Amino acid sequence: MGYNVAIDGPAGAGKSTIAKLVAKEKGYIYVDTGAMYRGLAIHFLKKGIRPEETEKVIEACGDAEVTIAYENGEQQIYLNGENITSMLRTEEAGNMASKTSAIPEVREKLLELQRGLARAKDVIMDGRDIGTNVLPDADVKIYLTASVETRAKRRYNELTEKGEHCDYEEIARDIQERDARDMNRETAPLRQAEDAVLVDSSNMTIEEVVSTICSYCIG
Ligand code: DC
Repeated sequence: MGYNVAIDGPAGAGKSTIAKLVAKEKGYIYVDTGAMYRGLAIHFLKKGIRPEETEKVIEACGDAEVTIAYENGEQQIYLNGENITSMLRTEEAGNMASKTSAIPEVREKLLELQRGLARAKDVIMDGRDIGTNVLPDADVKIYLTASVETRAKRRYNELTEKGEHCDYEEIARDIQERDARDMNRETAPLRQAEDAVLVDSSNMTIEEVVSTICSYCIG
């Protein structure tokens, strides 16, 4: 069993930025489970399936093989042998992932991949249900959150810097809807594990969050 750090929290809390930096500092492998759900979402989108079409989503899981690899230390997601990493970070893929991840068969499909990685390596794994469901015995559990306003502003800045046109109100609405879906679904909803440390990054710098989390970890 590797040394396992679980980071859960809502969309836009900065989990991946922080987890990558902690991974670098401590020598862990960073595992982004949201990217796996996004990978499956791309498969459903490619097939023209709508998220409400539960039966079709379940059926489509049968011919999707999601695998991960590391190139220059960066996680790459492969869907049926094709590297689709560059397609994952769109709002469309994120929303499709949020909706279809409520389906138990979709979660089941990715569970063993996630657990297998944690058994084999020292990992910092981020997602929604890592501390509560995927790795209930993780060595360290962090629940990383921030206010809706902070998260919406961060995403707005990120998109604007990339030159994408976007609307702050729409982003904030989208984040609230995503929170509601991720927290209220029946299977493995987003919630803070009882033994997780709560870190609210609303008024913290990235460096402060990283050093707080590192202080709980060995390595
Ligand atoms: O972290 P992210 O935005 O890339 O995740 C996309 C969606 O995938 C998220 O809205 C809910 C789902 N997800 C999940 O249900 N469980 C996880 N462990 C990770 C992500």
